[in-house]
Amino acid sequence: MADLSTSFTGIRFKNPFLLASAPPTESDSNILRAFEAGWGGVVTKTIGMHPVVNVKGPKTKFLRADNDATRLSMTKRPNSTLVASWNWELISDKPVDWWLPRLEKIKKAFPDRILIASIMAGSGNDKELRNWQALTKMCQDAGADGFELNFSCPHMDRIDMGSNVGKDKVLCSVVTMAVKEVAKVPVWVKLTPATSNIAEEAEASFRGGADAVSSSNTFPSLPLIDPNTLDFEMNVEGYVSPGGLGGPAILPLSLAKMAQITKAFPDKAFSGIGGVSNFDHALCYFLLGCGTVQVCTAAMLDSAIGPNVIKTLTNGMAEFMEKRGYASVDDFRGLRRDRVVAHSQIKRPEQLEYHGGYEGEEHEGYAKPAEPAVTV
Ligand SMILES: Cc1cc2nc3c(=O)[nH]c(=O)nc-3n(C[C@H](O)[C@H](O)[C@H](O)COP(=O)(O)O)c2cc1C
Repeated sequence: MADLSTSFTGIRFKNPFLLASAPPTESDSNILRAFEAGWGGVVTKTIGMHPVVNVKGPKTKFLRADNDATRLSMTKRPNSTLVASWNWELISDKPVDWWLPRLEKIKKAFPDRILIASIMAGSGNDKELRNWQALTKMCQDAGADGFELNFSCPHMDRIDMGSNVGKDKVLCSVVTMAVKEVAKVPVWVKLTPATSNIAEEAEASFRGGADAVSSSNTFPSLPLIDPNTLDFEMNVEGYVSPGGLGGPAILPLSLAKMAQITKAFPDKAFSGIGGVSNFDHALCYFLLGCGTVQVCTAAMLDSAIGPNVIKTLTNGMAEFMEKRGYASVDDFRGLRRDRVVAHSQIKRPEQLEYHGGYEGEEHEGYAKPAEPAVTV
């Protein structure tokens, strides 16, 4: 059996697969089951210090496509295929005092598995920065091996939190710096994909001292409208607000975000998230330069914590490595990062003249063309 173990931000993982911060990691019982099933690590459901009350009714539903027609709907039905998850769930509604003894218990039961605490506080004043530091100290004293700072949840009931932090480069730096001041273990930052150039927020987070960047959280989106009732497929008393899209639909979107940051910072550490349910999907993230991969939607639909998903991932990785003679993930990490280039760098038919999208120099009256942009 190939050696799937890896070192990521100085932490040793038995395999590079983690359950992402979400319902699969919302309780100690789920996390213990996940470790029994073989996950190398988990990122806890995000822990905060403010009171959390979720909406009335379901917090997550799954969008499916008919196999032999074009219908897309959240109605669960046979002969259909999963397209995406959609959720407007807030962070953990359990207080930090509920979590601390449970973090300790999990670490005692599985000392060799990696427990990353996802944390979130507000921003904009010193009290909130102190809350980030208090969460950090409490969770690391309880045994957390590392942190993931949630700068990424798209639907928050407060404007000073979640993706609103991840959309503000100064806040990305300031909050990361505040956490790093007190953290004795590695600190990852989970960024929102909902910005125009995620490399800028990644740069700000690394400047603040982040040891890694994770991406993506869910993409801001709305449920579809039912053509019969004219109601959104998910609503409370007719009303909806933007929530997050996850699952297969976001794999290509998230890969594009990941390529932007791994290309901008080839020497930094990245954890890939979004649309992964088997090793082929995870491989895309590794080939772009990620050192670990996280899973949510696929695990939710597989006995809530993904016992079959983790088997598929580890068996798939072992087979792939044996077939190609790789000794560790480092042998293939980043192998396709440099294949993502600016559109102007993609070859044109030989017989046609091409000037990188600009007029050729020989056109009298036009300025000399600028250097073609190389950012993607
Ligand atoms: C119901 C639900 C709740 C989530 N809660 C959190 C959370 O508390 N903190 C967080 O960082 N991400 C949260 N996420 C985002 C996931 O961790 C993950 O980034 C996203 O679902 C994309 O991965 P996937 O395509 O494997 O689902 C949540 C996702 C879902 C579906």
